[in-house]
Amino acid sequence: MSLTIAIDGPAASGKGTLSRRIASHYGYRHLDTGLTYRAVAKALIDAGQPLDDEEAAIDAARTFDISDMRRDVLAAHEIGEAASKVAVMPGVRSALVARQRDFAAQSRGAVLDGRDIGTVVCPDAPVKLYVTASPEVRARRRYHEILSNGGEADEEAILADILKRDERDMGRADSPLKPADGAHLIDTSEMTIEAAFRAAREYIDAALDND
Ligand code: DC
Repeated sequence: MSLTIAIDGPAASGKGTLSRRIASHYGYRHLDTGLTYRAVAKALIDAGQPLDDEEAAIDAARTFDISDMRRDVLAAHEIGEAASKVAVMPGVRSALVARQRDFAAQSRGAVLDGRDIGTVVCPDAPVKLYVTASPEVRARRRYHEILSNGGEADEEAILADILKRDERDMGRADSPLKPADGAHLIDTSEMTIEAAFRAAREYIDAALDND
């Protein structure tokens, strides 16, 4: 019997940090499904193939090593952009969704985070969270993150990127980002990560108790 916590939300909403905290707290395995789309995009870029080559993308989606997805290698902004482009292709999505479901099924407990976990990948998950924040707050967080890593950034440009990414992720025909039926909404705009974690834990403990 495997138990899945499904966490969805837009780019830079804080869902990644929150998902890792939740997985560690409950002793569950964690899959950042954004990394699976990023791994496909990177495979195409490395092979010099165009991002809209659906056959090559499906092949990459079926064959890349899911146990060897390194966040540091896949974190680049350009890879995120490319990932949101390969993510519009239904053949890529169905190949990755199958692998994400396997991950959940093979775990006693799993936290999956992404854009379509509660709606498509694990619609029967007993706990679904939708983590969001205003675009301005998300842009400011990303900006400070880059500065604190010693980089340079333009907050206005980051905001424009976030709005463009939201439009692509929420506007696509196949599995657009939206809150799943029954998802518990956590708006982190005015919250610290600690407060968001506390809110998530209270909700999850109550939901699992009633299960
Ligand atoms: O969360 P992220 O920035 O690593 O995700 C990169 C892109 O991958 C995102 O813009 C859209 C796509 N994605 C998706 O379509 N479905 C998911 N479950 C996760 C990510």
